[in-house]
Amino acid sequence: GASLPATPDPRLWPAALSDEVLVRIAATFGTPTYVLSEDDVRAQCRRFRAALPGVEVAYASKALTCRAVLRWVREEGLSLDVCSAGELAVARAAGFPAERVLFHGNAKTPEDFKAIRSCGVGRVVVDSPDELDHLTDQRVLLRVTPDVAADTHPALATGVSGQKFGMDEADLASAVRRLAGRPDLAFAGLHCHIGSQVRHVATFERAARRMVEVVARCPLPVAELDLGGGFGVPYTPEEPDFDLTGYADRITRALHYECARHRVRPPRVVVEPGRAIVARAGVTVYRVTSVKHSFVAVDGGMSDNARPALYQARYAPRLLRRGGRTRRVTVVGRHCEAGDVLARDVPLPGDVHPGDLLAVPVTGAYHHSLASNYNQVGRPALVGVRDGATSLLVRAEAEDDLLRRDVG
Ligand code: LLP
Repeated sequence: GASLPATPDPRLWPAALSDEVLVRIAATFGTPTYVLSEDDVRAQCRRFRAALPGVEVAYASKALTCRAVLRWVREEGLSLDVCSAGELAVARAAGFPAERVLFHGNAKTPEDFKAIRSCGVGRVVVDSPDELDHLTDQRVLLRVTPDVAADTHPALATGVSGQKFGMDEADLASAVRRLAGRPDLAFAGLHCHIGSQVRHVATFERAARRMVEVVARCPLPVAELDLGGGFGVPYTPEEPDFDLTGYADRITRALHYECARHRVRPPRVVVEPGRAIVARAGVTVYRVTSVKHSFVAVDGGMSDNARPALYQARYAPRLLRRGGRTRRVTVVGRHCEAGDVLARDVPLPGDVHPGDLLAVPVTGAYHHSLASNYNQVGRPALVGVRDGATSLLVRAEAEDDLLRRDVG
């Protein structure tokens, strides 16, 4: 096989997560473990704020929710998008001011509405007209389906017609009519989210243009336009970086031009990146349990990384501290399904053997937050790294944790 570089691709791997640090974490906290570079999370927050001056940046907490991460994001001056009473509870525990929170969801529950009322959430993003009956004394955004096809996996395309999110023109008109009779509800503006892991700026630009048409037809003044999240990130060396500067440039121009053309006052813009803030900051460390033909099995799998099974996601795993001649292998997990594959047909050092540490980069977003207890496997710990020092952010689940809820 070809030769592997001894050091990882810096586009996919935070400098703070050196092999030495990861080996030390595996020895201290065991495997599998999610590792997160605090500096990298903070740097992404700053990158978004710097690239989009005058735009409100709200971190979509579903990508990775825990108190420490929400504290960092709060300290970096971002707002927060939550989509459940549970996420709101973590936000409050992290000291996030409720005014800086946007509350989402297409099926808000009575518990969600109760939490919204008791915390005094800044804005609620309304997904269907009926929701207005459950809100009192609240600023709201109305979520629109812009009918823009996103260049992503079909399960992640949330802005086309025929999927569950947002309101079409008729629903929007009905929501606006209902708002007219509700002086306690303040209409702040419109929202759209076309999908996740969107790679092309042109797709976002289409949505932005389309939204200005909706703004122009809206009988109420639209002060805010929330364009959602969805900024793609590279997971393998072959994938390009998302062009955030190009996004800022083209969205600003498109909004300026379309607002002038439709003679509407340009609204304040909000964006909601989740993945782009935390994905690259995270590396998952596993231990190789067995090697059989071309299968390299590790001590985790689809319970800590559901993304290959859900979206055919691809990853570029690395053995820690080893370059050298390679062979192509398939990295599989420990779960009882043939589809429990972490990375198919990837190069690893030819002499990989049980006990080796294997690291999968770009696992900061939608890994910890999508983890399950399948096969009664405890969810991994989340360990933060800052200035070479490590700290436990979320402890690993033990058998006791699994049994605690089982009361029958
Ligand atoms: N805003 C709204 C209303 C959303 O529904 C989402 C993500 C975001 C913002 C943040 O999108 P991001 O910037 O992270 O792409 N589990 C999937 C991703 C699901 C995204 C759900 N909504 C995955 O692992 O790829």
